[in-house]
Amino acid sequence: MFQENLFKDKIVLVTGGGSGIGYTIAKQYLALGAIVYIASRNAQKIEKAITELKEFGDVRSAIADIREPEQIQTLADQIKAEAGRLDILVNNAGGQFPSAAENISFNGFRAVVTNNLIGTFYVTQIMAKTFFIPQKEGNIVNIIANIFRGFPGMVHTGAARAGVDNMTKTLAIEWVRYNIRVNAIAPGIIRSSGMDTYPPAILKGIEKSIPNNRMGTTDEVAYPVLFLSSPMASYISGETLYVDAGNRLWGDQWQGWSESLT
Ligand SMILES: NC(=O)c1ccc[n+]([C@@H]2O[C@H](COP(=O)([O-])OP(=O)(O)OC[C@H]3O[C@@H](n4cnc5c(N)ncnc54)[C@H](OP(=O)(O)O)[C@@H]3O)[C@@H](O)[C@H]2O)c1
Repeated sequence: MFQENLFKDKIVLVTGGGSGIGYTIAKQYLALGAIVYIASRNAQKIEKAITELKEFGDVRSAIADIREPEQIQTLADQIKAEAGRLDILVNNAGGQFPSAAENISFNGFRAVVTNNLIGTFYVTQIMAKTFFIPQKEGNIVNIIANIFRGFPGMVHTGAARAGVDNMTKTLAIEWVRYNIRVNAIAPGIIRSSGMDTYPPAILKGIEKSIPNNRMGTTDEVAYPVLFLSSPMASYISGETLYVDAGNRLWGDQWQGWSESLT
């Protein structure tokens, strides 16, 4: 679909690249010639992914928790020592759990915001200061979620992703002076490993709430990520692209969820 070697020798970091959407994003970059670091907390998961992804190209492991700035700086130092630069950062790591707002503990709310918003800022600032700002070149794609009409059933991640959505716009302006583009992808409902953590009851019949009656695939999220980080999107920054088959405009998950979550 894309020109062969589109990302030849580009250095890419995909957080949460050991599973699901991040894994497929890493695979697609590898297939187009990039050198890809996949980072997350679970070393076993990363090593398994590395073993599988090796056949597609030069994939490298990075163990780090995005909530821990020291671990992120160590990861940046590792990339600097091994690769010398970073061209593309995909902030994909994240997680949340469905719950009615009134049942979420303060710790649970704080945990999701710390991971999905604060952790994303830690990675972004550290990679920008270590690589993109001194290089005067960089590309960031943030994976958020369908927050177009709020996020009933997941108020914590809705708030966190709205924060990243706004951060995307702000950094696109602040960092244009360093030639850094910052964009976001807002996936709708994607059939991926992340879905395995959701109770089957809230996924039952969910396709009916999607305009084209099916979940998206991880490839369908990965392709727009590649596009936004490629020279084909050189005049696009501060944009959030919804990859949801129009779900933000039509379809209501909450109607089905409200019974199982309250
Ligand atoms: N699937 C969907 O429908 C959908 C829709 C909208 C948005 N999203 C978002 O898209 C991203 C990928 O989702 P997915 O479906 O592929 O889920 P997934 O398989 O659970 O992927 C999430 C990845 O993030 C990593 N991660 C989580 N917390 C981390 C932390 N503190 N530090 C480092 N890595 C961390 C996990 O690895 P470790 O456990 O090894 O750390 C995991 O590999 C997530 O942010 C998700 O919330 C998904």
